[in-house]
Amino acid sequence: MGSDDVVIDPWGSAQSTDYERIIQQFGLSPLEGVDLPSPSKLHRRGIVFAHRDVDQVLEAQRTGDPFGVLTGLMPSGQMHLGHSMVVEQVKWFQEQGGDVTIAVADLESQATRGVSLEKGRQVALEEYIAHYAAMGLDPQKTNVYFQSSRPVVQRLGFQLGKRTNLNEFESIYGFDGETNLAHVQAPLVQVGDILHPQLDEYGGLRPVVVPVGVDQDPHLRLTRGLAAKTNWFNLRDASSRGLLVSLSVHDENADVFGQMPNGRVDKAKVAAVFDQVVAAASELGFSDIMSSPKQGHVHIPSATQRDKHALRLALLRLERRLGGMGLLAPSSTYHHFAVGMTGNKMSSSQPKTTLFLRDDLAAVEKKIKRAFSGGQATVEEHRRLGGNPDVDVAYQYMMYFFEEDDAYLAEVNAAFRSGQLLAGEMKQLCIDRATAWMNDLHEMRDQTAHLVADFLAEDAR
Ligand code: TRP
Repeated sequence: MGSDDVVIDPWGSAQSTDYERIIQQFGLSPLEGVDLPSPSKLHRRGIVFAHRDVDQVLEAQRTGDPFGVLTGLMPSGQMHLGHSMVVEQVKWFQEQGGDVTIAVADLESQATRGVSLEKGRQVALEEYIAHYAAMGLDPQKTNVYFQSSRPVVQRLGFQLGKRTNLNEFESIYGFDGETNLAHVQAPLVQVGDILHPQLDEYGGLRPVVVPVGVDQDPHLRLTRGLAAKTNWFNLRDASSRGLLVSLSVHDENADVFGQMPNGRVDKAKVAAVFDQVVAAASELGFSDIMSSPKQGHVHIPSATQRDKHALRLALLRLERRLGGMGLLAPSSTYHHFAVGMTGNKMSSSQPKTTLFLRDDLAAVEKKIKRAFSGGQATVEEHRRLGGNPDVDVAYQYMMYFFEEDDAYLAEVNAAFRSGQLLAGEMKQLCIDRATAWMNDLHEMRDQTAHLVADFLAEDAR
Protein backbone atom coordinates (compact mmCIF):
# COMPACT_ATOMS: atom_id res chain seq x y z
CA MET A 1 0.00 0.00 0.00
CA GLY A 2 1.36 3.43 -0.87
CA SER A 3 1.70 5.95 1.95
CA ASP A 4 -0.95 8.27 0.50
CA ASP A 5 -3.46 5.50 -0.09
CA VAL A 6 -6.90 5.84 1.43
CA VAL A 7 -7.87 3.36 4.15
CA ILE A 8 -11.61 3.23 4.49
CA ASP A 9 -12.77 2.53 8.00
CA PRO A 10 -16.45 1.56 8.04
CA TRP A 11 -16.75 2.45 11.73
CA GLY A 12 -14.73 5.64 11.66
CA SER A 13 -15.97 9.17 11.34
CA ALA A 14 -13.43 10.32 8.75
CA GLN A 15 -14.74 10.12 5.24
CA SER A 16 -12.76 10.46 2.07
CA THR A 17 -14.63 12.31 -0.64
CA ASP A 18 -11.87 11.92 -3.17
CA TYR A 19 -14.08 9.67 -5.26
CA GLU A 20 -11.82 9.55 -8.29
CA ARG A 21 -9.05 8.17 -6.18
CA ILE A 22 -11.35 5.71 -4.48
CA ILE A 23 -12.45 4.39 -7.88
CA GLN A 24 -8.82 4.02 -8.91
CA GLN A 25 -7.41 2.58 -5.76
CA PHE A 26 -10.10 0.02 -5.09
CA GLY A 27 -10.82 -0.88 -8.68
CA LEU A 28 -14.46 0.23 -8.78
CA SER A 29 -16.06 0.76 -12.19
CA PRO A 30 -17.60 4.15 -12.99
CA LEU A 31 -21.37 3.96 -13.42
CA GLU A 32 -21.25 6.63 -16.08
CA GLY A 33 -22.04 5.09 -19.45
CA VAL A 34 -23.80 2.07 -17.98
CA ASP A 35 -27.24 1.81 -19.53
CA LEU A 36 -29.83 1.76 -16.73
CA PRO A 37 -33.55 1.19 -17.18
CA SER A 38 -35.47 4.30 -16.02
CA PRO A 39 -32.65 5.77 -13.93
CA SER A 40 -33.63 7.44 -10.65
CA LYS A 41 -32.58 10.95 -9.75
CA LEU A 42 -29.59 9.56 -7.86
CA HIS A 43 -28.38 7.89 -11.05
CA ARG A 44 -29.18 10.79 -13.35
CA ARG A 45 -27.24 13.19 -11.14
CA GLY A 46 -24.15 11.03 -10.76
CA ILE A 47 -24.77 10.62 -7.02
CA VAL A 48 -24.65 6.85 -7.45
CA PHE A 49 -21.30 6.94 -9.20
CA ALA A 50 -19.62 3.55 -9.22
CA HIS A 51 -20.21 -0.18 -9.09
CA ARG A 52 -18.76 -3.64 -9.07
CA ASP A 53 -20.28 -6.16 -11.48
CA VAL A 54 -23.63 -4.39 -11.70
CA ASP A 55 -23.82 -5.68 -15.28
CA GLN A 56 -24.68 -9.15 -14.08
CA VAL A 57 -27.68 -7.75 -12.23
CA LEU A 58 -28.81 -5.65 -15.18
CA GLU A 59 -28.40 -8.67 -17.44
CA ALA A 60 -30.68 -10.72 -15.18
CA GLN A 61 -33.16 -7.83 -15.16
CA ARG A 62 -33.15 -7.67 -18.98
CA THR A 63 -33.62 -11.38 -19.47
CA GLY A 64 -36.24 -11.71 -16.75
CA ASP A 65 -34.02 -13.90 -14.56
CA PRO A 66 -34.24 -13.50 -10.81
CA PHE A 67 -31.91 -11.17 -8.95
CA GLY A 68 -31.75 -10.00 -5.38
CA VAL A 69 -31.01 -6.76 -3.55
CA LEU A 70 -29.58 -6.75 -0.08
CA THR A 71 -28.99 -4.03 2.44
CA GLY A 72 -28.35 -3.89 6.13
CA LEU A 73 -29.14 -1.38 8.81
CA MET A 74 -27.54 -0.64 12.16
CA PRO A 75 -30.39 -0.25 14.59
CA SER A 76 -28.96 2.57 16.66
CA GLY A 77 -30.06 6.17 16.86
CA GLN A 78 -32.47 7.96 14.59
CA MET A 79 -32.82 7.63 10.87
CA HIS A 80 -31.61 10.67 8.96
CA LEU A 81 -31.60 11.83 5.37
CA GLY A 82 -28.33 10.06 4.61
CA HIS A 83 -29.94 6.72 5.43
CA SER A 84 -32.78 7.40 3.06
CA MET A 85 -30.46 7.28 0.04
CA VAL A 86 -29.91 3.54 0.31
CA VAL A 87 -33.64 3.00 0.69
CA GLU A 88 -34.29 4.94 -2.50
CA GLN A 89 -31.82 2.72 -4.35
CA VAL A 90 -33.22 -0.48 -2.89
CA LYS A 91 -36.67 0.65 -3.96
CA TRP A 92 -35.41 1.33 -7.46
CA PHE A 93 -33.96 -2.19 -7.76
CA GLN A 94 -37.22 -3.55 -6.36
CA GLU A 95 -39.15 -1.73 -9.06
CA GLN A 96 -36.84 -3.32 -11.62
CA GLY A 97 -37.90 -6.74 -10.36
CA GLY A 98 -35.40 -7.56 -7.62
CA ASP A 99 -36.37 -9.39 -4.46
CA VAL A 100 -35.25 -7.49 -1.37
CA THR A 101 -33.55 -8.78 1.76
CA ILE A 102 -32.84 -6.44 4.67
CA ALA A 103 -30.45 -7.41 7.44
CA VAL A 104 -31.00 -5.83 10.80
CA ALA A 105 -27.41 -5.73 12.08
CA ASP A 106 -28.42 -6.21 15.69
CA LEU A 107 -25.32 -8.28 16.50
CA GLU A 108 -23.07 -5.62 15.01
CA SER A 109 -24.93 -2.88 16.81
CA GLN A 110 -24.65 -4.72 20.10
CA ALA A 111 -20.96 -5.41 19.63
CA THR A 112 -19.82 -2.06 18.28
CA ARG A 113 -22.32 0.37 19.83
CA GLY A 114 -23.55 -1.38 22.95
CA VAL A 115 -27.19 -1.58 21.87
CA SER A 116 -29.00 -4.55 23.44
CA LEU A 117 -30.72 -6.97 21.08
CA GLU A 118 -34.07 -6.02 22.54
CA LYS A 119 -33.49 -2.32 22.03
CA GLY A 120 -32.09 -3.04 18.57
CA ARG A 121 -35.28 -4.80 17.60
CA GLN A 122 -37.42 -1.95 18.79
CA VAL A 123 -35.35 0.69 17.00
CA ALA A 124 -35.25 -1.37 13.81
CA LEU A 125 -39.03 -1.69 13.68
CA GLU A 126 -40.19 1.66 14.99
CA GLU A 127 -37.54 3.82 13.42
CA TYR A 128 -36.10 2.07 10.36
CA ILE A 129 -38.70 -0.30 8.95
CA ALA A 130 -41.46 2.23 9.66
CA HIS A 131 -39.65 4.68 7.38
CA TYR A 132 -38.82 2.05 4.75
CA ALA A 133 -42.55 1.38 4.55
CA ALA A 134 -43.29 5.09 4.34
CA MET A 135 -40.80 5.47 1.49
CA GLY A 136 -42.71 2.91 -0.50
CA LEU A 137 -40.89 -0.41 -0.25
CA ASP A 138 -43.27 -3.21 -1.07
CA PRO A 139 -43.81 -5.46 1.97
CA GLN A 140 -44.75 -8.38 -0.28
CA LYS A 141 -41.34 -8.30 -1.95
CA THR A 142 -39.20 -7.45 1.08
CA ASN A 143 -37.83 -9.71 3.78
CA VAL A 144 -36.45 -8.22 6.95
CA TYR A 145 -34.47 -10.47 9.29
CA PHE A 146 -32.30 -10.08 12.38
CA GLN A 147 -28.69 -11.25 12.40
CA SER A 148 -29.26 -12.69 15.87
CA SER A 149 -32.13 -14.92 14.79
CA ARG A 150 -30.82 -16.27 11.49
CA PRO A 151 -28.14 -18.78 12.51
CA VAL A 152 -27.15 -19.60 8.95
CA VAL A 153 -25.77 -16.09 8.57
CA GLN A 154 -23.42 -16.58 11.49
CA ARG A 155 -22.56 -20.09 10.38
CA LEU A 156 -21.62 -18.88 6.91
CA GLY A 157 -19.46 -16.15 8.40
CA PHE A 158 -17.68 -18.69 10.56
CA GLN A 159 -17.23 -21.11 7.67
CA LEU A 160 -15.76 -18.47 5.37
CA GLY A 161 -13.63 -17.03 8.15
CA LYS A 162 -11.43 -20.05 7.56
CA ARG A 163 -10.36 -18.52 4.24
CA THR A 164 -9.04 -15.25 5.57
CA ASN A 165 -6.65 -14.15 8.32
CA LEU A 166 -5.63 -11.18 10.42
CA ASN A 167 -3.16 -9.97 7.81
CA GLU A 168 -5.96 -9.57 5.33
CA PHE A 169 -8.09 -7.76 7.91
CA GLU A 170 -5.17 -5.50 8.64
CA SER A 171 -4.78 -4.56 5.01
CA ILE A 172 -8.49 -4.17 4.30
CA TYR A 173 -9.55 -2.38 7.48
CA GLY A 174 -6.29 -1.04 8.87
CA PHE A 175 -6.65 -3.14 12.03
CA ASP A 176 -3.81 -3.55 14.49
CA GLY A 177 -3.12 -5.28 17.79
CA GLU A 178 -5.47 -2.92 19.65
CA THR A 179 -8.47 -3.69 17.50
CA ASN A 180 -11.47 -4.95 19.40
CA LEU A 181 -12.42 -8.42 18.20
CA ALA A 182 -16.03 -7.36 17.70
CA HIS A 183 -14.63 -5.53 14.69
CA VAL A 184 -13.26 -8.79 13.42
CA GLN A 185 -16.48 -10.69 13.96
CA ALA A 186 -18.87 -8.08 12.58
CA PRO A 187 -17.43 -8.18 9.03
CA LEU A 188 -17.66 -11.97 8.99
CA VAL A 189 -21.31 -11.79 9.97
CA GLN A 190 -21.79 -9.18 7.26
CA VAL A 191 -20.23 -11.62 4.77
CA GLY A 192 -22.94 -14.06 5.87
CA ASP A 193 -25.59 -11.36 5.42
CA ILE A 194 -24.46 -10.64 1.89
CA LEU A 195 -24.03 -14.21 0.67
CA HIS A 196 -26.82 -16.15 2.34
CA PRO A 197 -29.64 -15.04 0.00
CA GLN A 198 -27.98 -17.27 -2.60
CA LEU A 199 -28.53 -20.38 -0.50
CA ASP A 200 -31.35 -22.59 -1.71
CA GLU A 201 -33.55 -21.85 1.33
CA TYR A 202 -33.29 -18.11 0.68
CA GLY A 203 -33.95 -17.85 -3.02
CA GLY A 204 -31.09 -19.84 -4.54
CA LEU A 205 -28.25 -18.94 -6.86
CA ARG A 206 -28.76 -15.53 -8.46
CA PRO A 207 -26.93 -12.21 -8.69
CA VAL A 208 -27.34 -10.10 -5.56
CA VAL A 209 -26.57 -6.39 -5.52
CA VAL A 210 -25.68 -4.40 -2.42
CA PRO A 211 -26.12 -0.61 -2.75
CA VAL A 212 -23.85 1.14 -0.26
CA GLY A 213 -21.88 4.26 0.53
CA VAL A 214 -18.15 3.87 -0.15
CA ASP A 215 -17.52 3.43 3.57
CA GLN A 216 -18.95 -0.08 3.28
CA ASP A 217 -16.74 -1.14 0.39
CA PRO A 218 -14.19 -2.92 2.60
CA HIS A 219 -16.94 -5.39 3.50
CA LEU A 220 -17.68 -5.97 -0.15
CA ARG A 221 -14.04 -6.51 -1.03
CA LEU A 222 -13.81 -9.04 1.77
CA THR A 223 -17.02 -10.81 0.73
CA ARG A 224 -16.13 -10.96 -2.94
CA GLY A 225 -12.70 -12.34 -2.15
CA LEU A 226 -14.07 -15.00 0.16
CA ALA A 227 -16.79 -16.08 -2.25
CA ALA A 228 -14.21 -16.42 -5.02
CA LYS A 229 -11.94 -18.50 -2.80
CA THR A 230 -14.69 -21.08 -2.27
CA ASN A 231 -15.32 -21.53 -6.00
CA TRP A 232 -14.52 -24.92 -7.52
CA PHE A 233 -14.09 -23.65 -11.07
CA ASN A 234 -12.10 -20.74 -12.47
CA LEU A 235 -13.26 -18.90 -15.53
CA ARG A 236 -10.75 -16.72 -17.34
CA ASP A 237 -9.90 -15.28 -20.72
CA ALA A 238 -7.98 -17.62 -22.99
CA SER A 239 -4.73 -16.17 -24.32
CA SER A 240 -5.83 -16.82 -27.90
CA ARG A 241 -9.55 -16.24 -27.88
CA GLY A 242 -12.58 -17.37 -25.96
CA LEU A 243 -12.77 -18.48 -22.34
CA LEU A 244 -11.01 -21.13 -20.30
CA VAL A 245 -12.48 -23.14 -17.44
CA SER A 246 -10.12 -24.79 -14.98
CA LEU A 247 -10.49 -26.56 -11.66
CA SER A 248 -9.64 -24.90 -8.38
CA VAL A 249 -8.66 -27.74 -6.09
CA HIS A 250 -9.00 -27.36 -2.33
CA ASP A 251 -9.83 -29.46 0.73
CA GLU A 252 -13.56 -29.57 0.11
CA ASN A 253 -13.37 -30.83 -3.44
CA ALA A 254 -10.15 -32.85 -3.49
CA ASP A 255 -12.06 -36.10 -3.39
CA VAL A 256 -14.60 -35.18 -6.08
CA PHE A 257 -11.75 -33.86 -8.22
CA GLY A 258 -9.89 -37.18 -7.92
CA GLN A 259 -6.96 -35.94 -5.87
CA MET A 260 -5.94 -38.91 -3.78
CA PRO A 261 -4.36 -38.53 -0.35
CA ASN A 262 -1.20 -40.23 -1.63
CA GLY A 263 -0.76 -37.41 -4.14
CA ARG A 264 -1.90 -39.43 -7.15
CA VAL A 265 -4.73 -38.48 -9.41
CA ASP A 266 -7.76 -40.60 -10.18
CA LYS A 267 -7.99 -39.92 -13.91
CA ALA A 268 -11.45 -41.37 -14.27
CA LYS A 269 -12.80 -38.94 -11.69
CA VAL A 270 -11.11 -35.98 -13.35
CA ALA A 271 -12.48 -37.03 -16.73
CA ALA A 272 -15.98 -37.27 -15.26
CA VAL A 273 -15.76 -33.71 -13.92
CA PHE A 274 -14.48 -32.41 -17.25
CA ASP A 275 -17.36 -34.15 -19.01
CA GLN A 276 -19.78 -32.32 -16.76
CA VAL A 277 -18.13 -28.98 -17.52
CA VAL A 278 -18.46 -29.73 -21.23
CA ALA A 279 -22.10 -30.72 -20.74
CA ALA A 280 -22.82 -27.48 -18.86
CA ALA A 281 -21.24 -25.44 -21.65
CA SER A 282 -23.07 -27.26 -24.42
CA GLU A 283 -26.34 -26.73 -22.59
CA LEU A 284 -25.69 -23.01 -23.04
CA GLY A 285 -25.44 -23.60 -26.79
CA PHE A 286 -21.69 -23.75 -27.37
CA SER A 287 -20.73 -26.48 -29.81
CA ASP A 288 -17.01 -25.95 -30.21
CA ILE A 289 -15.68 -27.06 -26.81
CA MET A 290 -12.17 -28.37 -26.32
CA SER A 291 -11.67 -30.41 -23.21
CA SER A 292 -8.08 -31.15 -22.14
CA PRO A 293 -8.00 -32.72 -18.69
CA LYS A 294 -4.25 -33.18 -19.11
CA GLN A 295 -3.64 -29.48 -19.55
CA GLY A 296 -6.19 -28.88 -16.84
CA HIS A 297 -8.71 -26.80 -18.75
CA VAL A 298 -11.73 -26.67 -20.98
CA HIS A 299 -11.41 -24.13 -23.78
CA ILE A 300 -14.47 -22.53 -25.35
CA PRO A 301 -13.05 -20.46 -28.22
CA SER A 302 -16.34 -18.94 -29.36
CA ALA A 303 -17.29 -17.65 -25.89
CA THR A 304 -17.13 -13.86 -25.58
CA GLN A 305 -17.09 -11.49 -22.61
CA ARG A 306 -20.85 -11.35 -22.84
CA ASP A 307 -21.05 -15.09 -22.23
CA LYS A 308 -19.06 -14.89 -19.03
CA HIS A 309 -22.02 -14.32 -16.79
CA ALA A 310 -24.08 -17.23 -18.07
CA LEU A 311 -21.05 -19.52 -17.97
CA ARG A 312 -20.18 -18.48 -14.46
CA LEU A 313 -23.71 -19.26 -13.29
CA ALA A 314 -23.66 -22.63 -15.09
CA LEU A 315 -20.37 -23.52 -13.36
CA LEU A 316 -21.73 -22.50 -9.97
CA ARG A 317 -24.80 -24.67 -10.55
CA LEU A 318 -22.51 -27.56 -11.44
CA GLU A 319 -20.42 -26.90 -8.33
CA ARG A 320 -23.55 -27.12 -6.21
CA ARG A 321 -24.54 -30.43 -7.79
CA LEU A 322 -21.08 -31.74 -6.97
CA GLY A 323 -21.40 -30.66 -3.34
CA GLY A 324 -19.87 -27.16 -3.25
CA MET A 325 -21.44 -23.93 -2.02
CA GLY A 326 -21.58 -22.36 -5.48
CA LEU A 327 -21.40 -18.73 -4.34
CA LEU A 328 -21.41 -15.85 -6.78
CA ALA A 329 -19.45 -12.75 -5.75
CA PRO A 330 -21.96 -9.99 -4.92
CA SER A 331 -22.43 -6.91 -7.07
CA SER A 332 -22.44 -3.47 -5.50
CA THR A 333 -23.16 0.17 -6.26
CA TYR A 334 -21.71 3.21 -4.50
CA HIS A 335 -23.13 6.61 -3.74
CA HIS A 336 -21.59 9.94 -2.83
CA PHE A 337 -22.32 11.22 0.64
CA ALA A 338 -24.43 14.31 0.94
CA VAL A 339 -22.59 17.07 2.75
CA GLY A 340 -23.59 17.72 6.36
CA MET A 341 -25.69 20.83 6.93
CA THR A 342 -22.85 22.59 8.71
CA GLY A 343 -20.58 21.93 5.74
CA ASN A 344 -18.87 19.00 7.47
CA LYS A 345 -19.83 15.33 7.63
CA MET A 346 -23.40 14.26 8.31
CA SER A 347 -23.57 12.49 11.64
CA SER A 348 -26.33 11.12 13.85
CA SER A 349 -24.44 12.19 16.93
CA GLN A 350 -24.43 15.82 15.77
CA PRO A 351 -28.07 16.73 15.15
CA LYS A 352 -27.20 20.03 13.48
CA THR A 353 -25.45 18.23 10.63
CA THR A 354 -28.52 16.59 9.17
CA LEU A 355 -32.28 16.35 9.11
CA PHE A 356 -33.74 13.43 10.99
CA LEU A 357 -36.78 11.86 9.43
CA ARG A 358 -38.74 12.67 12.59
CA ASP A 359 -37.72 16.31 12.75
CA ASP A 360 -40.75 18.57 12.91
CA LEU A 361 -41.20 21.28 10.32
CA ALA A 362 -40.00 24.05 12.60
CA ALA A 363 -36.73 22.21 13.16
CA VAL A 364 -36.39 21.59 9.43
CA GLU A 365 -36.79 25.28 8.69
CA LYS A 366 -34.37 26.29 11.40
CA LYS A 367 -31.65 23.88 10.29
CA ILE A 368 -31.88 24.92 6.66
CA LYS A 369 -31.79 28.59 7.58
CA ARG A 370 -28.57 27.99 9.51
CA ALA A 371 -27.05 25.66 6.91
CA PHE A 372 -23.73 26.34 5.26
CA SER A 373 -24.20 28.64 2.30
CA GLY A 374 -22.39 28.85 -1.02
CA GLY A 375 -23.36 32.50 -1.35
CA GLN A 376 -21.11 35.53 -0.98
CA ALA A 377 -20.76 37.57 2.20
CA THR A 378 -22.92 40.47 1.01
CA VAL A 379 -25.76 40.82 -1.46
CA GLU A 380 -23.72 43.21 -3.55
CA GLU A 381 -20.84 40.73 -3.82
CA HIS A 382 -23.22 37.89 -4.52
CA ARG A 383 -24.82 39.79 -7.41
CA ARG A 384 -21.39 40.61 -8.77
CA LEU A 385 -19.52 37.31 -8.23
CA GLY A 386 -22.31 34.75 -8.06
CA GLY A 387 -22.61 31.81 -5.63
CA ASN A 388 -21.28 28.28 -5.61
CA PRO A 389 -24.05 25.66 -5.67
CA ASP A 390 -21.49 22.86 -5.29
CA VAL A 391 -21.02 23.74 -1.63
CA ASP A 392 -24.39 25.32 -0.95
CA VAL A 393 -26.22 22.97 1.42
CA ALA A 394 -29.70 24.16 0.45
CA TYR A 395 -28.98 23.47 -3.21
CA GLN A 396 -27.25 20.17 -2.49
CA TYR A 397 -30.19 18.94 -0.42
CA MET A 398 -32.64 19.73 -3.18
CA MET A 399 -30.42 17.83 -5.57
CA TYR A 400 -29.88 14.81 -3.31
CA PHE A 401 -33.26 14.53 -1.65
CA PHE A 402 -36.12 16.89 -2.34
CA GLU A 403 -36.33 17.90 -6.00
CA GLU A 404 -37.26 15.40 -8.71
CA ASP A 405 -37.27 17.82 -11.65
CA ASP A 406 -33.85 17.98 -13.37
CA ALA A 407 -34.72 20.97 -15.55
CA TYR A 408 -35.86 23.05 -12.60
CA LEU A 409 -32.73 22.14 -10.69
CA ALA A 410 -30.52 23.20 -13.60
CA GLU A 411 -32.32 26.55 -13.69
CA VAL A 412 -31.81 27.12 -9.99
CA ASN A 413 -28.17 26.12 -10.31
CA ALA A 414 -27.54 28.61 -13.12
CA ALA A 415 -29.41 31.42 -11.36
CA PHE A 416 -27.37 30.93 -8.20
CA ARG A 417 -24.09 30.75 -10.05
CA SER A 418 -24.85 33.97 -11.92
CA GLY A 419 -25.79 35.80 -8.73
CA GLN A 420 -29.38 36.29 -9.78
CA LEU A 421 -30.66 33.98 -7.04
CA LEU A 422 -29.58 34.98 -3.54
CA ALA A 423 -28.46 32.64 -0.77
CA GLY A 424 -31.54 33.37 1.33
CA GLU A 425 -33.80 32.75 -1.64
CA MET A 426 -32.11 29.41 -2.26
CA LYS A 427 -32.70 28.47 1.36
CA GLN A 428 -36.35 29.39 1.04
CA LEU A 429 -36.73 27.19 -2.04
CA CYS A 430 -35.13 24.35 -0.12
CA ILE A 431 -37.38 24.94 2.91
CA ASP A 432 -40.45 24.77 0.66
CA ARG A 433 -39.32 21.54 -0.98
CA ALA A 434 -38.15 19.98 2.29
CA THR A 435 -41.43 20.85 4.00
CA ALA A 436 -43.45 19.20 1.26
CA TRP A 437 -41.18 16.13 1.30
CA MET A 438 -41.31 15.77 5.08
CA ASN A 439 -45.05 16.31 5.21
CA ASP A 440 -45.48 13.62 2.65
CA LEU A 441 -43.19 11.24 4.48
CA HIS A 442 -44.91 11.78 7.82
CA GLU A 443 -48.30 11.25 6.27
CA MET A 444 -47.15 8.08 4.53
CA ARG A 445 -45.62 6.87 7.77
CA ASP A 446 -48.99 7.08 9.48
CA GLN A 447 -50.70 5.36 6.59
CA THR A 448 -48.20 2.51 6.35
CA ALA A 449 -47.62 1.93 10.08
CA HIS A 450 -49.84 -1.14 10.00
CA LEU A 451 -47.61 -2.72 7.32
CA VAL A 452 -44.42 -2.88 9.36
CA ALA A 453 -45.07 -6.45 10.57
CA ASP A 454 -45.60 -7.60 6.98
CA PHE A 455 -41.97 -6.80 6.18
CA LEU A 456 -40.69 -9.35 8.66
CA ALA A 457 -39.43 -12.73 7.52
CA GLU A 458 -40.81 -15.69 9.42
CA ASP A 459 -37.72 -15.98 11.62
CA ALA A 460 -38.09 -12.30 12.58
CA ARG A 461 -41.66 -12.43 13.89
N1 TRP B 1 -22.36 -2.53 8.61
C1 TRP B 1 -23.52 -1.84 8.12
C2 TRP B 1 -23.60 -0.44 8.74
O1 TRP B 1 -22.71 -0.06 9.46
C3 TRP B 1 -24.78 -2.62 8.37
C4 TRP B 1 -24.85 -3.91 7.63
C5 TRP B 1 -24.87 -5.16 8.18
C6 TRP B 1 -24.90 -4.09 6.22
N2 TRP B 1 -24.96 -6.09 7.22
C7 TRP B 1 -24.99 -5.50 6.02
C8 TRP B 1 -24.91 -3.23 5.13
C9 TRP B 1 -25.03 -6.02 4.74
C10 TRP B 1 -24.97 -3.75 3.87
C11 TRP B 1 -25.02 -5.14 3.68
O2 TRP B 1 -24.52 0.28 8.51
